Amino acid sequence: MAEVVEVNVKDIEIANNAVKLAQEMVKRGYQAKQIMPKVKKVLKKINLPFSAKDAYVAARIRLKARDKFGPLAEKLFFDESGYRYSTPSIIADYRAKRLKDYYVADVSCGAGMQLAFFGFRCKRAEGVEINKKRAFLAAMNIVSLNSNSTVYWGDAFKFETSAEVIFSDPARPESEKFRSFSTLQPNPINIMKKFEGKIFVFELPPQMPPERVTIKGEKEYTSLNFKLNRLALYTGNLSTCNVSAISLPSCERVTDLDERAKLEKGELKDLIAEVDRTVVHSNLLENLVGKLGLDAKIVYMDGRRTLLSVNELKNSAFLRYYRVLSIAKSFSECKEKLKEVGAKKVTLRFEIPPDKYWSVRKELEKELNGEKRVDLFKINEKFVICSKL
Ligand SMILES: C[S@@+](CC[C@H](N)C(=O)[O-])C[C@H]1O[C@@H](n2cnc3c(N)ncnc32)[C@H](O)[C@@H]1O
Repeated sequence: MAEVVEVNVKDIEIANNAVKLAQEMVKRGYQAKQIMPKVKKVLKKINLPFSAKDAYVAARIRLKARDKFGPLAEKLFFDESGYRYSTPSIIADYRAKRLKDYYVADVSCGAGMQLAFFGFRCKRAEGVEINKKRAFLAAMNIVSLNSNSTVYWGDAFKFETSAEVIFSDPARPESEKFRSFSTLQPNPINIMKKFEGKIFVFELPPQMPPERVTIKGEKEYTSLNFKLNRLALYTGNLSTCNVSAISLPSCERVTDLDERAKLEKGELKDLIAEVDRTVVHSNLLENLVGKLGLDAKIVYMDGRRTLLSVNELKNSAFLRYYRVLSIAKSFSECKEKLKEVGAKKVTLRFEIPPDKYWSVRKELEKELNGEKRVDLFKINEKFVICSKL
């Protein structure tokens, strides 16, 4: 059985004051052992399992959480793991909008970020979390954000609900050679057995290509700011195609139903389009080119980067355009050409070991006194100097 987690506004105020005090002290350079006793005093009357250490951890996380949650970060309570696996607010809001017409149960709600957005957008929302501390953090976040959701502490496999949609963003090992269903907790296959007859939405490891997702439904790859970030699987009425890709925040979408245009290899010309990896990983590149009516040839492709030679600029959040300024056959010629084009800063956009990136970049920038910020690609062993459009 699962228990409702009750949290009241007064306790959230106390917890918030404690986290704010810890944040201030961290910013002013105090150490944990100096901060904790002061925070403990603020927490004296709190009626929640939220210690001075929890407040200190939450404070440190709030200081870095703006990237993921914008201004909401100042209201949130996280432990390290809850934060690492929490859904960024732009994605959580998008997902909730897709499920807005339904009563949704999030059966592995973590610290409750996605659940909070279900509460804002959906017909009705509830969440269950097996880890007691995190279930409390979820309930605190729900109250702090004034979201209309209920949090339960318990095991998804013992949870009973009349929700129409079962959502789960399962826990996964930090790293694995091959991502698979078997290491996900709760396991989506078992969740489907437990809640047979419902509509399901699962967040799966985005590294999984479409052909490895064996459950029938729409596999939606999400790009956040030009980076592959999520893979959601929608079953039943929520599935609108076999594979789709969405770019956030623009919401531009491409699916396997968009007519494909055959893409061939070709020569480098004046304009390059860099393709968001999300589209390539989801096997939707030809669908995107077809949808945009783009006249394009492939000039470079590896596991991380795909570059197209194009004749015109067609607006798409999945593409970043560059104008070719100069091409060099060797590193030393590249240094000369960078001077000729008036470069000052050079962003390296080719495969390079991370520990070499800055030394190579410094070497290239050493004698530059121009004004331009340029991007440097390596295509067929040539250095291609570009400016971003
Ligand atoms: C990736 S996190 C969810 C993050 C959440 N979607 C968010 O946006 O903050 C997965 C959570 O599933 C929980 N979990 C794992 N097995 C569970 C089970 N059988 N029942 C309920 N929760 C479970 C883990 O404790 C973990 O907190």
